[in-house]
Amino acid sequence: MSIKNKDTILHVQGKSQFIDDQIVPEGTLYAAVVSSSIAHGKILKIDDEEARKINGIVCILTASDVPGQNQIGNIIKDETLLAENDVHYIGQPIAVILATDAFTARKAAKKINIRYEAFPAVFDPREAYKNGSLIAPERTFSCGNIDDAWRKCDVIVEGRVESGGQEHLYLETQGAFAIPMEHGKLKVFSSTQSPTIVQKTIAGILNILMHKIEVDVLRLGGGFGGKEDQATAWACMAALGVWKTGKPVKLVLRRHDDLRMTGKRHPYSSDFKIGLTNDYKIVAYEAMFYQNAGAAADLSTAILERTLFHTTNSYFIPNVKATAASCKTNLPPNTAFRGFGSPQAMFVIESAIHKAAEKMGVDSSIIQHINLLNEGDEFPFGMTYKSKTAHECWDNAQELYHVNEIINEIKVFNEQNSAVKKGMALMPICFGISFTTTFLNQASALVHVYSDGSVGISTAAVEMGQGVNTKIRQTAARVFSIDIERVFIETTNTTRIANTSPTAASSAADLNGNATRIACEQILCRLRTFALEQLKQPDASKIDFRDETIFYNNQPTALTWEILIGQAYINRQNLSAHAHYATPAIFFDRATEKGNAFAYHVCGTAISKVTLDCLRGTYTIDAVKIVHDGGTSINELIDRGQIEGALVQGIGWLTMEEVLYDEAGILLSNTFSAYKIPDIQFTPTDISIHFLESDETNLGVFNSKAIGEPPFMYAIGTYFALINAIKAFNPNVHIKYDAPMTPEKALLSLYSA
Ligand code: MTE
Ligand code: HPA
Ligand code: MOS
Repeated sequence: MSIKNKDTILHVQGKSQFIDDQIVPEGTLYAAVVSSSIAHGKILKIDDEEARKINGIVCILTASDVPGQNQIGNIIKDETLLAENDVHYIGQPIAVILATDAFTARKAAKKINIRYEAFPAVFDPREAYKNGSLIAPERTFSCGNIDDAWRKCDVIVEGRVESGGQEHLYLETQGAFAIPMEHGKLKVFSSTQSPTIVQKTIAGILNILMHKIEVDVLRLGGGFGGKEDQATAWACMAALGVWKTGKPVKLVLRRHDDLRMTGKRHPYSSDFKIGLTNDYKIVAYEAMFYQNAGAAADLSTAILERTLFHTTNSYFIPNVKATAASCKTNLPPNTAFRGFGSPQAMFVIESAIHKAAEKMGVDSSIIQHINLLNEGDEFPFGMTYKSKTAHECWDNAQELYHVNEIINEIKVFNEQNSAVKKGMALMPICFGISFTTTFLNQASALVHVYSDGSVGISTAAVEMGQGVNTKIRQTAARVFSIDIERVFIETTNTTRIANTSPTAASSAADLNGNATRIACEQILCRLRTFALEQLKQPDASKIDFRDETIFYNNQPTALTWEILIGQAYINRQNLSAHAHYATPAIFFDRATEKGNAFAYHVCGTAISKVTLDCLRGTYTIDAVKIVHDGGTSINELIDRGQIEGALVQGIGWLTMEEVLYDEAGILLSNTFSAYKIPDIQFTPTDISIHFLESDETNLGVFNSKAIGEPPFMYAIGTYFALINAIKAFNPNVHIKYDAPMTPEKALLSLYSA
């Protein structure tokens, strides 16, 4: 059923509430953050004399004001909330100013003078690697026997691949609002994907128990991974401000500070070696990934792990060795971003295939197709691919979109035009669904049926535009067989739902939807028994709930949903349930790097078509045509929106979005004029999406499949379509696999030898 996300109405009316819209109590203080202006060094002196003179300043907080552990590291405890002695990147928080209004707080922040002793800084991951500066020991996934395998190859190709960072550019910047409660409790409104991480980290900062902190999330104005870990610091600062002053504290970053201080998608520099037989079978593949982690771990090690999981994208390769190193540099800690390390891995294997195809004188699609995953194939980490949809999507795309005609059309066009060239490429994807950190694959739901028949639901899922609340509403309405308008989704709140996993890994609808389904089924089970009593009938199996009416033996009864619930309440029936769901049968052993890490895989194929202006280097992405395996979708409208959004976001990463730092580590792409993202003009005029029809079962809700991240990787095809257009103009070009393909780089390649 394709109903709309009901928030969309509020969004276009400007009525949706975000952190900065919240009406604050009188006496609320406003926070501004003072951060490092150098990339690496030692703090010699913090001079706050000038700042203190400003009217309206309440206090200035530094590391010494933290009562508990000055630590916000989630996986690895390597990141201070406020710098102690050393600073490791430009934008690293050093002090928090509290003032009676936001303008004064920011003005005072500018008046803080900090003297440093500067140390050499490193920004290049390969250099950090050479220096032995790693976030954690490097890891290797392997299968077969790579050393033997090279001997069996007819063609071996090696190369290097670069992929750039990416700014999340959520519309709502990072922020939090904290208020003091009785008994030393704090209530924190945070724009976070991870309410429990915020709760737990504040508890550590303040040295109090988690039950003293209530985190509440209404919705996010976008997260895209940028608020999985990096929403925490601002909430901690606001909480620390409350702790010190006893007043409510609000901290909302201005766009410029958000761009400057927060981490982005990890840039990667990678080496590959690929070996094939003359009949295009990939026999061996070796890759080394240098991940630019920035100055602290953040989620880098988990992201690195997902890079390894997706080293071979949707191909079966019998001999693989993939090594990945998380390299510590003096940039803001890079973090989760849609795809979570998988786009970087897939870009490398696609580059390897492209280069091999070039050497063998065929189109990449020949190699892609021959090596596509078949049911029963094993991934390098030991999991079996249990589906047929990789091939089904590919074959469907070929037929449905008449790929051979597109190829011919482009050939003819390129023969007839010299200053404008077209290119196309195919991109199959295969993405594993589940947190690769197995214990995170759990969720719970609290369902209340009120005495008027309306339903209120709390889960761990955070709504950030992806439509998870709508899918959960639909799930409950479906189990109860009631009108969706009866169902309301409450805020995500740590006092109603404890131990929430982040809303991430595309898994929120699967995990929280299943928990909701189970809770609703528990209530439904009680209602069946109760209805049987009311109807004075003997057989519970003959009770049915259909469109708000209770049926017995396939006949409608006088009992409606509303009447039944009203009577159930009077008869003291339990109309609430709490349920927990944990994905069954997944595990991963980090000692052997083997296991069934995922509940299932999501596959699909995209065809991209581009037109390149060979005089200017400018281009249009004309069409992206997709066949996607979305299982049995709960809501095709939302899924279509997710595919379109992810695709365009991916196109941005591969084409125009260029995160640039200067040699001192200052972010150059720090405005909307310097950092370009795809707008509606740049978006392909033709985005065709076809959902594969498949009767395979899976662990999603009602056989649906996760949708949030996989379609991002379809965009990788647009990069290769551009490369192919460049090659049509300049057959001698020496291709550097170096994303993003900005018009500037395209122009240089068009005229390079
Ligand atoms: N869609 C919108 N509109 N806004 C977002 O912030 N985040 C993406 C994706 N789609 C995001 C989005 C990311 S990174 C993930 S992991 C998933 O949504 C998370 O939500 P889900 O688990 O409900 O799919
Ligand atoms: N995706 C997103 N966040 C995560 C993951 C993942 O696979 N693993 C741990 N945190
Ligand atoms: Mo998404 S990168 O897992 O928040």
